[in-house]
Amino acid sequence: MTTGTVKAEGRRQKAETPAGFDVAKIRADFPILAERVHGRPLVYLDSANTSQKPVSVLQAMDDYYRHANANIHRATHLLSERATALYEGARAKAARFLNAPDPHTIVLTKGTTDGINLVAQSYGRSTLKAGDEILLSWLEHHSNIVPWQMVAEQTGAAIRVVPINDRGEIEQEEYAALLSPRTKIVALGHVSNALGTINPVAAMVAQAHAQGAVVLVDGAQAAPHLAIDVQALDCDFYVLSSHKMYGPTGTGVLYGRAALLEAMPPYQGGGDMIASVTFEKTRYNQVPYKFEAGTPNIAGVVGLGAAVDYLSQIDREAALAHEDAVLGYATAQVRQIPGARIIGEARDKTGVLSFMLEGVHPHDAGTILDQQGVAVRTGQHCAQPVMDRFCIPATIRASLGIYNTREDIDALVRGLERVREVFA
Ligand code: ALA
Repeated sequence: MTTGTVKAEGRRQKAETPAGFDVAKIRADFPILAERVHGRPLVYLDSANTSQKPVSVLQAMDDYYRHANANIHRATHLLSERATALYEGARAKAARFLNAPDPHTIVLTKGTTDGINLVAQSYGRSTLKAGDEILLSWLEHHSNIVPWQMVAEQTGAAIRVVPINDRGEIEQEEYAALLSPRTKIVALGHVSNALGTINPVAAMVAQAHAQGAVVLVDGAQAAPHLAIDVQALDCDFYVLSSHKMYGPTGTGVLYGRAALLEAMPPYQGGGDMIASVTFEKTRYNQVPYKFEAGTPNIAGVVGLGAAVDYLSQIDREAALAHEDAVLGYATAQVRQIPGARIIGEARDKTGVLSFMLEGVHPHDAGTILDQQGVAVRTGQHCAQPVMDRFCIPATIRASLGIYNTREDIDALVRGLERVREVFA
């Protein structure tokens, strides 16, 4: 068994499910897993796309609407007090989840994409100029590429891209070579959504800082699997989405280093982000509220807080070891299928098995798997440069959550046998 920590070395998928980890009990927390699709039991292998939600998250949002629904920060009545306490309570939970130094370093967002756009348009747009460079990796999700391209166009900064090797790992020597005093921002995924690669983020942050660059880490695919410690990573910004970590859609977290958040201009204007407004001059609210214009997704944030509670009461090291064991089993099983080619065999990976089947377009495979009750994602996974790097149009991607089992993988393999029969 590996330790299941962010620092774990080697092929983590060789882990075993720890004796104390009761996956049946976990599965019972997720009502949708009892669903039938096309007359068959649901086998959900698409958690990197969005995870399923435990009953405690559903209940928290239902309770909020039944017993506390009101606008936050804006009224003196009891319901508003309840709503504000729940909303700010979720911010404090998010801070603990990331080991952030203070809840005021936590901006509540619509999700990872929103957080990256906020940093690009606030920090990036106000600091970048012609001649500056933004360093990305070839592994990035479109949401960690396009916002930087937009701000590069606006400011005259240039985008540089670190290549990846045939295993789907960032080329560390190339990374070091591309860093220079011109590098102002490094934007890196913690875990690749398309391939599952875990990047050595702490070491990469230290190298970037040595050149004076600020680092944003896209943690959308890391937060459901790994224990995150933004102080240990020493990153400047860390973004994640609630819906990938068993919470609702439409909410997320941006952690920012306090001094940077203080200095950044607001991203959007509106209610609640101001201290005072006159036609002559508006003064902005303090951090983090100056980044939270308008009525937010309060119920969603309550659900995010409940998702953090859910993850906090399970043994996450054991859950990760279980997921790694299921990923190792899936990798071994798919490798035995004639014509299967696994894309992304990083030495350190989690949660994702991307592959192709010779002679079958991934979308056709996805449709046939769906008929068998097996939900996977097929396509480019919002990571077209990764597909281009491997000269492939798309992959079949099975992605795991804490509730997946070897039986789910057996169902996937049976479904893939059916795909091969159809295309024989
Ligand atoms: N980022 C999501 C995925 O990987 C949408 O599927």
